Amino acid sequence: MNKIDPWGTQLIEDYSRLIKDFGLEPMQDFLLDFPGPNYLMKRGIVFGGQGLKELSAAMKEKKPFYCLTGIMPSSERIHFGTKTVIEMVKYFQENNAKTFVLVADLESAATRGISLKEARERAMDFYIPAYIALGLNPKKTVFYFQSENSEVKNLAYLFSQKITLNEFKSIYGEVHPSRILSALAQAGDILFPQLNEKMPGVIPVGIDQSPHIRLARDIVRRTKSEFNFFLPSATYHKFVPSLDGSNKMSKSNPNSFVSIPEESNSAGKKMKKALTGGRNTVEEQKKLGGQPENCMIFEMYKQHLIEDDKKLQQIYDNCKAGKLLCGQDKDNAFELMISFQEDFKKKLENARKTRKQWKFVKS
Ligand code: TRP
Repeated sequence: MNKIDPWGTQLIEDYSRLIKDFGLEPMQDFLLDFPGPNYLMKRGIVFGGQGLKELSAAMKEKKPFYCLTGIMPSSERIHFGTKTVIEMVKYFQENNAKTFVLVADLESAATRGISLKEARERAMDFYIPAYIALGLNPKKTVFYFQSENSEVKNLAYLFSQKITLNEFKSIYGEVHPSRILSALAQAGDILFPQLNEKMPGVIPVGIDQSPHIRLARDIVRRTKSEFNFFLPSATYHKFVPSLDGSNKMSKSNPNSFVSIPEESNSAGKKMKKALTGGRNTVEEQKKLGGQPENCMIFEMYKQHLIEDDKKLQQIYDNCKAGKLLCGQDKDNAFELMISFQEDFKKKLENARKTRKQWKFVKS
């Protein structure tokens, strides 16, 4: 029977070009350096990074390091890619990372026209509790709003001197004043913790966010004499594939992915239509077996719904052997999705009650 490769080579294959083109480090080469890597790292969903050696060394030697992520308060739902970010934050936090979570209210004002007030309300009512519900430890986290952090803003202004418009174009493709401001503020966010303490840090992001990391690393090199920052490290995760099998979940096609939270009716309908690795007929599938490597439901299990490797392997084997057919499998996946969503709702309510514990910094 075929095995799921715990080192995730199958997945890395799809992403090996990205790794080459962008000069990234494959996670599998560093996996043994990290203490107790989580399932995302072992399965190659977090397939690569930058500065992984410095990061893992700090973790192993129990030196100070930080982990930082940003909330874009643009809607009332989050997508499963964000869950992956939070899983990574949780992993680093459990390994003693000083953890920073910022609300990118300036960015949402500049790029989406969301007022600061609105952004604040959404962050307080939904995003921060949602992050906590998904595993962030609020007691060990420092939160801030970009708009209330003058050090971040000051960094953005200083950094604006260090990059040309053409470089911006080559990193981001598209340039627009709002994007430039936001990207500089984001570089400010990424380096802000080091104003207090010079140390390695990690920014876990989807691969689509890698330009921000590149910009921040370029800026670190160019401000060496003024700041002497450590180059920020990053971990990169794969796109969450949309249920119809296209590579990236698209916000413009809400039928192609399930959000957090989502009502069971609509989640069920979407999952029923998902692309699977099934054969043309039941007979054929019983004979030849299914193709979990091409199945979006299996990908959901692997990325989000099943952490237990043995369970995942069992489904894989049963599918390959033609014993588990797609209809049944979709029903099972739907059950898992419902219990995930129910659990999330409960945890969200509980997290809202911890509001007094959230520590915000202003500067
Ligand atoms: N640009 C990010 C987004 O679209 C939000 C963000 C702002 C961020 N500052 C950050 C993410 C710093 C990571 C690190 O979601």
